[in-house]
Amino acid sequence: MSVDPLAAIYDEFARTYDDNRGLFDMRPVIADFMAHLPATGNLLDLGCGAGEPFAKAFLDRGWSVTGVDFSARMLELAARYVPGMTRVHGDMRAVDFPAASFDAACAVYSLFHVPHALHPGLFSRVRSWLRPGGTFLFTYATRAYTGQERFDGTKEFLGRRLFYSHVTPEELRRQLGDAGFASVEAEQRSIGGEEFLWITARV
Ligand SMILES: C[S@@+](CC[C@H](N)C(=O)[O-])C[C@H]1O[C@@H](n2cnc3c(N)ncnc32)[C@H](O)[C@@H]1O
Repeated sequence: MSVDPLAAIYDEFARTYDDNRGLFDMRPVIADFMAHLPATGNLLDLGCGAGEPFAKAFLDRGWSVTGVDFSARMLELAARYVPGMTRVHGDMRAVDFPAASFDAACAVYSLFHVPHALHPGLFSRVRSWLRPGGTFLFTYATRAYTGQERFDGTKEFLGRRLFYSHVTPEELRRQLGDAGFASVEAEQRSIGGEEFLWITARV
């Protein structure tokens, strides 16, 4: 498989990931997400990285977790930190799963790296992979992060230029509705000095 340029950058980041482990307190986000989910089930983590903290929190709760990431080095860290997670080395734009096979899905600090033109198709696929009552949580970039209402370009992160993409929150809501999500909640959160919209979309 040829390596996507962004995957190559995350392969490099993986070398220093250990230094930044557990830097930000994500417990409130995880607790809010879990509050509306069944006690056990299975989670799809798109752009799972090293599997912390989300995959690990769900595994610790007794859920099974499938993590997808296109960075082989990040998945090597996941093998070390969350050996119980099923690892899929692939691109979230291309992976496929049987219909109604997950209780929840998340894409934490990852979906904003996918061009927004591809979001509607991805939302429809995630929607189809979720069971009735399923929930999809993801981090979404807005003007607070990129300085623009709609964005399709690069920004500096940890000394490298990374691709980010988003439309307006109103357009995003329309996309999620068109994809078949029945309800959408949005919460602007500032974590580690970075402001993103945290979207909870329910089937
Ligand atoms: C900022 S890291 C976040 C990792 C993890 N979700 C977390 O919260 O720590 C973004 C991750 O998304 C992955 N990623 C970005 N675009 C992807 C894509 N199209 N398919 C699969 N993985 C992707 C990167 O390789 C990286 O591991």
